Amino acid sequence: MSKIVVVGTGYVGLVTGTCFADLGNHVTCVDVVQEKIDKLKEGQAPIYEPGLEEMIGRNLKAHRLEFTTSYEAALEGAEFVFIAVGTPEAADGSADMQYVEAAARNIGRSAPGRSEQPLIVINKSTVPIGTGDLVGRLVKGNAPSDFNFAVVSNPEFTREGQAVLDFLQPDRVVLGSEDTWASELVRELYLPLEAPIIVTDIRTAEMIKYASNAILATYISFINEIAMICESLGADVKKVAQGMGYDKRINAQFLNAGVGFGGSCFPKDVKALAHMAEQSNTRPALLNAVIDINKDARRLFVDKVVRLVGGDVNGKRIGVLGLSFKPDTDDMRESPAVDILQALREQGAEIHAYDPVAMEVARSQVKGVHFCSDAYETAAGADALLLITAWNEFKQLDMEKLHKAMRHPILVDGRNVYDPKEMRDLGFTYAGVGRK
Ligand code: UDX
Repeated sequence: MSKIVVVGTGYVGLVTGTCFADLGNHVTCVDVVQEKIDKLKEGQAPIYEPGLEEMIGRNLKAHRLEFTTSYEAALEGAEFVFIAVGTPEAADGSADMQYVEAAARNIGRSAPGRSEQPLIVINKSTVPIGTGDLVGRLVKGNAPSDFNFAVVSNPEFTREGQAVLDFLQPDRVVLGSEDTWASELVRELYLPLEAPIIVTDIRTAEMIKYASNAILATYISFINEIAMICESLGADVKKVAQGMGYDKRINAQFLNAGVGFGGSCFPKDVKALAHMAEQSNTRPALLNAVIDINKDARRLFVDKVVRLVGGDVNGKRIGVLGLSFKPDTDDMRESPAVDILQALREQGAEIHAYDPVAMEVARSQVKGVHFCSDAYETAAGADALLLITAWNEFKQLDMEKLHKAMRHPILVDGRNVYDPKEMRDLGFTYAGVGRK
């Protein structure tokens, strides 16, 4: 059993803390927001993440998991402290480092004077290359002179909606440090997961995270570009991706064409990497194209809807299925739905929308939308129905009932969930992305 502190109770911090507690460690999660901590002490997760709340409850009960706003109390006797705070996008596209910097300063200030037991400061937040050094300087600059610590970079690769599973069954664990003894101790924390563990220097570990997100985002923009070409040449991108995927050198998991990527990672991380490249006088031509194609995917989808309803959405009722940036999360950050709904509203459309879990969050993000209680209510009287997020419950709908409910049965499938022929046989005017 190790004594671990996790700073930050966003999804990365909470999943990290709760899973390490579940593995038998004693974990204290720190956050500066009292209200969040109060709710967590009651076992209430501030985000929707499958399996997480149940796991928090179980570990609270077993006294392996605690929540506090006090760095001092949390760090008393701690061996490891993970920094897992947000690095949102700053106005210039770089990563905003204020929360990471504040966490490093607070760790230094709250560090008990100690010379024997070292504290290992582990950076889990996605941070610009070189931040490991900065964290080290900030901790050192605020701590007593005899404070003994080391910095390790440990980027996270969990996906929202399956973060607990991804944490417990990772494809790999990446550790970067200039202090071998420190990365060795962190490696031991991860041994129960029986995953490949790669140990590098700090900068390489930080780059592995950015490069991994950038290649995944590149796959998506690549297939969206192919989808665009398929549409004009009469091919079906879904079959194209399937056909490509049988080649062992090509992984089709991220070759799903649609309205593009959103979320808290890809958009900001690709921009941050491009920004870092520019700052170091390198031209990130591919990264810039990935960002542009992703913007185009949303714009082209809106154009398609306008075209299908006859060239003008003004006064038309548009039903929207799915608002979150992907299924199994209530996260609306950078969700394609936000831009798509805004563009349609600006052109005078009346929007009726439904999402299985994200409507509460969506209320503050998309204005002037009528929220419905299910897919059928959303379709009622609609001039077109759009699918933006591929929630499972949209895959087995009673399509005849939907068809009957609509004023004009136009179905625009932003995630290529439905079979074009089946939909046309049912009487829909159907359009997917990159399909004949
Ligand atoms: C991503 C990375 O996958 C994860 O490793 C990292 O730690 C955080 O960022 P996440 O943002 O949770 O995870 O979602 P992910 O499942 O990767 O999807 C991101 C976006 O890409 C979603 O909007 C999704 O709809 C879109 N997407 C994904 C596609 O449009 N097509 C695909 O083929 C795959």
